[in-house]
Amino acid sequence: MSSSVKPGSSGPLKPNDLEAHFMPFTAQRQFKRKPRMLTSAKGMYYSSDDGRQIMDASAGMWCVNAGHAHPKIVAAIQKQAAELDYAPNFSFGHPVSFKAASLLCAEMPSDIDHVFFSNSGSEAVDTAIKIAIAYQRARGRGTKTRIIGRERGYHGVNIAGISVGGLGYNRQVFSGALMQGVDHIHHTYNLSEQAFSRLQPEWGAHLADDLERRILLHDAENIAAVIIEPVPGSTGVLPPPKGYLEKISAICTKYDILLIFDEVITAWGRLGRATAAEYFNVMPDIITSAKGINNATVPLGATFIRRSIYDAFMRGGEYGIEFMHGYTYSGHPLACAAALATLEVYKEEKLFERAANLEKKWSEALHSLKDAPHVVDIRTIGLMGAVEFAPGSRNPPQEMSRAMEVFDKMFFEQDCVLRFTGNVIAMSPPLIISESQIDEIVAKLRKALATVK
Ligand SMILES: Cc1ncc(COP(=O)(O)O)c(C=O)c1O
Repeated sequence: MSSSVKPGSSGPLKPNDLEAHFMPFTAQRQFKRKPRMLTSAKGMYYSSDDGRQIMDASAGMWCVNAGHAHPKIVAAIQKQAAELDYAPNFSFGHPVSFKAASLLCAEMPSDIDHVFFSNSGSEAVDTAIKIAIAYQRARGRGTKTRIIGRERGYHGVNIAGISVGGLGYNRQVFSGALMQGVDHIHHTYNLSEQAFSRLQPEWGAHLADDLERRILLHDAENIAAVIIEPVPGSTGVLPPPKGYLEKISAICTKYDILLIFDEVITAWGRLGRATAAEYFNVMPDIITSAKGINNATVPLGATFIRRSIYDAFMRGGEYGIEFMHGYTYSGHPLACAAALATLEVYKEEKLFERAANLEKKWSEALHSLKDAPHVVDIRTIGLMGAVEFAPGSRNPPQEMSRAMEVFDKMFFEQDCVLRFTGNVIAMSPPLIISESQIDEIVAKLRKALATVK
């Protein structure tokens, strides 16, 4: 161990105390010079270390759907920690994970009625990909191993996730280490055809035909699954063109290929339903989930599968492990207790219905920014929203992008947290948001935009 004196802290954190933490997805040299520090949270608001109340317009990172520090969820986690802090899930069980599995599966559409637990969206995705490949083999179709993703897809950061993901800047450093046998279909966004569409754009269903082309290129006998987000979120909220998801689903069925919906963002009320599958009435075979599943209180990922997929694994001798996969924290008691409490809150407070009722108000409020400076597109669906800016002459990473400047101004000058990606700012408020708070976010954005060059 090094004997050098390390920075420590007692009292408020200062820039010198921030060095040791290698931060995720952050321009950290810039951050450490001018930190954005959140110290507590309740309902729709954070408190910052300089004593401000800050509106959370992004539900953390698309995840705190029931609002921060909900007393019922907090109490459930505290009780569970005192009762059973941890128990292994390999060859042991505890009642909380089984109860959570049953009640969460009950919210899934169609015959999706089994779930595999992990700890994050990234792990839920890697688990889905492994299940898809292993399922094909279990049913005697062992050549079906390829996975088709989509450009502008975000499926987390593990190797399988970035391989099927469609973001160059997440993949390029790792190109030599990516998973083999992956291809991508065209993304669905086209600014000139779709700008300022309300909810789902009219233009673009034909882009699903790209999937059929990829399948014919590789041969369906070699393809296990297609993975897409029903609404890509992290890459800028891209609602699917009308009819697109239906076509994707029909093509998968035609060629006997599994369809995976990555619903890490879109599940648990974000679109006013338990799942986007239900919202769009398009049924996948596998749904990945995390985030809002337990209000993001304790890490939890979940991969939901159809009964027929589960059944395909339940063969061979009874003493054989059917699926060689799992995490030390799969089905962690605290995470599952939090999920059970969160589900109760969603039901008792009718939060999915609330989100569905707010969809129109949210859309109209954000679209009122159409005339604001630099705005080239506005997209919303459910309680997801994005505002896209003309890039201007900025030159990231040497300079802040316009979206990053808006993000920065919203935090420091307008007391509001949102997200940015490229030249887009994205929002996804907690489902408890009121109509007047929606207007407040829009008013803050208008003020911030007025001062952006
Ligand atoms: C669609 C989707 N999949 C996977 C992930 C990865 O989740 P996590 O950050 O919990 O690993 C995310 C995160 O935003 C996501 O939006």
